[in-house]
Amino acid sequence: MAHSSPAYGARRRSSAPRNRLRRFVSVGQMLARVFLGYKQISYREKRKGAAWGAPRREQHHWWSARKFYETAIRNQGLLIKTGQFLGTRPDVVPDAYVEVLSKLQDEVPPESFENIKRVIEHELGCPLTDIFTEFDEQPVAAASLAQVHRAVLKDGRVAAVKVQYPGIEHIVDIDLANMSFFIGLLNKLDRSMDYRFVAEEMRKHIPLELDFINEGHNAERIAADFVDVDDVVVPEIYWEHSSRRVLTMEYIDGVKITDADGMRALGVDPADIAKILVFAFAEMIVKHGFFHADPHPGNLMVLPGPKLVLIDFGQAKELGDEFQQVLVRFTRTILLNDNAAMGVAFRELGFRTKRDDAAGYEQLGDAYVGRIAREMHESGAGWAEGAAFEQSYDDISKILRTNQLTAVPPELLLVGRVFGLLNGLSKTLQAKTNMLVAFAQLADQMEAAKEHGELVAPGAPASRRLLEA
Ligand SMILES: Nc1ncnc2c1ncn2[C@@H]1O[C@H](COP(=O)(O)OP(=O)(O)OP(=O)(O)O)[C@@H](O)[C@H]1O
Ligand SMILES: [Mg+2]
Repeated sequence: MAHSSPAYGARRRSSAPRNRLRRFVSVGQMLARVFLGYKQISYREKRKGAAWGAPRREQHHWWSARKFYETAIRNQGLLIKTGQFLGTRPDVVPDAYVEVLSKLQDEVPPESFENIKRVIEHELGCPLTDIFTEFDEQPVAAASLAQVHRAVLKDGRVAAVKVQYPGIEHIVDIDLANMSFFIGLLNKLDRSMDYRFVAEEMRKHIPLELDFINEGHNAERIAADFVDVDDVVVPEIYWEHSSRRVLTMEYIDGVKITDADGMRALGVDPADIAKILVFAFAEMIVKHGFFHADPHPGNLMVLPGPKLVLIDFGQAKELGDEFQQVLVRFTRTILLNDNAAMGVAFRELGFRTKRDDAAGYEQLGDAYVGRIAREMHESGAGWAEGAAFEQSYDDISKILRTNQLTAVPPELLLVGRVFGLLNGLSKTLQAKTNMLVAFAQLADQMEAAKEHGELVAPGAPASRRLLEA
């Protein structure tokens, strides 16, 4: 059940530019060439017709995806994270991007073993052989901030050792500064809303990802929240061999969530995994108010059972009690199909428009969520397609042209990101579970329980399965 092997032989990590301007220019150039390429095709297509344009656009998708990939590999840092996100979205980006960019989820060219060994020995303060009886020099996977090696502890437990790339902190710092600049630029170009909350949320969360002690605590908190659930697995943390830059944990020999053949070999139906996935995230967001905020396929595995394995808790988000309650009320209105109630809850979430009138919030609530929910309901699919998002985007732009957003709840950035990733995965897995309905039903149960004064199960049942929810 091994992972596909990382792209060995590709450019070594240490060659990433560490100069702010060079990083900025390299990304800017890539984006400009991608963008202008599309513009040029659309322009010439007007004269030459769609039969001329379609194959050229397809070709440009591939060219652009590869260019993005190469730039991400060369620069490392946050561009890899952006690519991971795009690579999980067959619901919105062309297949070429999914195919090429999904390699960024766990197949980034690794750091040399020599450098990795140096980090571990420095962090844990002793030679490798003092801790491990076996240590695989080739990583099982390499991602945006760290690579993971399989090792055996002295007591025989098999461990996954996650080691932070040397120098990654500096690269991430530069990228955050450049991102703030990009967002400042966007704010000048698009006055319909203030995007600064995006930069603020990222500045708050991304540096936390570089603290593996924090990640270990997040993992334990989510494991505790699912203690009664049989089909969700979280690796155990081995604290005695962990530090800020090295996280040693239980090794889980699972199949990647996008590996359909691997899943079939385990006798697992991808649609079942999709159901567990959606219910697990509904519980984390709606019920626990603390969620794994980065469910891209590199962070999700499958075991027989079927069981869903969550890994990589670097990005986790805590919702305040009050916000969570409003989120529950808002989510419930999806099920009630009640536009007025949705508008009220939308404002309560923390959105503010210039006019601050009820009709405006109703329109926006419908454009962001209501319309997509209806489309999913009509199509009967477990996910929404790109056309629904385009339509929703058009509606939102139209509304904001005359009634700008003056405040956006920053909490929703990561909730929205999770929804995007889950929607993409639902398509990949051909889910039968309607994500919005699952979230709304859970919200409804919680509200109903509160109205009837029921306590939320004090002595929770000994075990349950999300697949049977
Ligand atoms: N406990 C584990 N057992 C087996 N494999 C693991 C384990 N933890 C991580 N991996 C593998 O290592 C890869 C990288 O680990 P992880 O996702 O934690 O790193 P990261 O750099 O934080 O990733 P990201 O780019 O998603 O932020 C995973 O995609 C997975 O394939
Ligand atoms: Mg990861």
